[in-house]
Amino acid sequence: MFRRLRNCNNVEDMRLLAKQRLPGPIFHYIDGAADDEITYRRNSTAFDDCDLVPNVLAGVDDVDMSVTVMGQKLEMPIFCSPTALQRLFHHDGERAVAKAAAKYGTLFGVSSLSTVSLAEIGALSQSPKLFQFYFHKDRGLNDAMVERAKAANFDALALTVDTITGGNRERDLHTGFTSPPRLTLKSLLSFAAHPGWAFNYFTHEAFELAELSDHVQEGSNVAVSVGDYFSTMLDQTMDWTDAENLRAKWGGSFCLKGIMSARDARRAVDIGATAIMVSNHGGRQLDGSRSPFDQVAEIADAVGGEIEIILDGGIRRGTHVLKALAAGATACSGGRMYLYALAAAGQAGVERALSNMCDEIERDMKLLGVSNISQLDRDMLRYR
Ligand code: LAC
Repeated sequence: MFRRLRNCNNVEDMRLLAKQRLPGPIFHYIDGAADDEITYRRNSTAFDDCDLVPNVLAGVDDVDMSVTVMGQKLEMPIFCSPTALQRLFHHDGERAVAKAAAKYGTLFGVSSLSTVSLAEIGALSQSPKLFQFYFHKDRGLNDAMVERAKAANFDALALTVDTITGGNRERDLHTGFTSPPRLTLKSLLSFAAHPGWAFNYFTHEAFELAELSDHVQEGSNVAVSVGDYFSTMLDQTMDWTDAENLRAKWGGSFCLKGIMSARDARRAVDIGATAIMVSNHGGRQLDGSRSPFDQVAEIADAVGGEIEIILDGGIRRGTHVLKALAAGATACSGGRMYLYALAAAGQAGVERALSNMCDEIERDMKLLGVSNISQLDRDMLRYR
């Protein structure tokens, strides 16, 4: 079946359109996860083990779904998680996501492995933006990234804490996916089979990891897998003291991305973090680890009210967002939920993805009998 954006009503529709448009290795880089992908699947199916209990006759003509995250008011309770390599998926890359997020009044993240510079993103978007920091062995690079994020007026910095070594992404091993893509007979054949993508990739500015290329060749001029990049370039000595020092150096809203235990959530409070993203990196790192939704209530019981709790991962529906918020999350975020859409149709795709999500959340809030996010609570949830 030939798919079009106007027929994409949900994340799965976008996924199938992305699959149609992208060369196989690139699609599978987005779509794939670690080992047997059990955690990746569980991130979404966990929501199916919990049912919503609606209340009716609640007067819901005027719904307000806004939340405040890291000092920023967001018009919807889900934002675009930072994701790497976006110009590989669509030639506009991070620019498209920045503009779409601005249109829907939500936050978006930009990765240290971004393909558009922080300076350019800062100049094109006045909307709330988060910089996702990877702690490199190269301290000069770390310092430069903090300075550039400040200069570009980023509102928050998220230190990634779940990539201390590369996850085992077997789809990437199978397809040979690297950044930048290696030009082999096999990859050229997959490009030839997707001429629209290939034309755009080869006729727009050359691929590079904009924040890294002055410091390291890997990823921009030397082809590496993302797993190898993490394992060789990031600093495996990173600990709580480094996190606290980074928070102090940054000086603004600070988040730890990839917290999964209540114990670590408590330590995040202790070092003065503003927020945690309860996340397993989209199931791309430790397969067999718990899903964010399975973990969020326990974390909210431990630190709710002391730190903002962002549930990151597995969100495919508005009801997933509402379940997460009812269980104790402050807000939600997602990568693939907008990334398939970016690959499918650039800015228009991401706008459609956010619009679908916004419509679902509004409709589902009305059906659930709430007109404000603060009215969601655990009384509305039953675990099977
Ligand atoms: C990933 C990184 C780069 O591939 O976020 O999971």
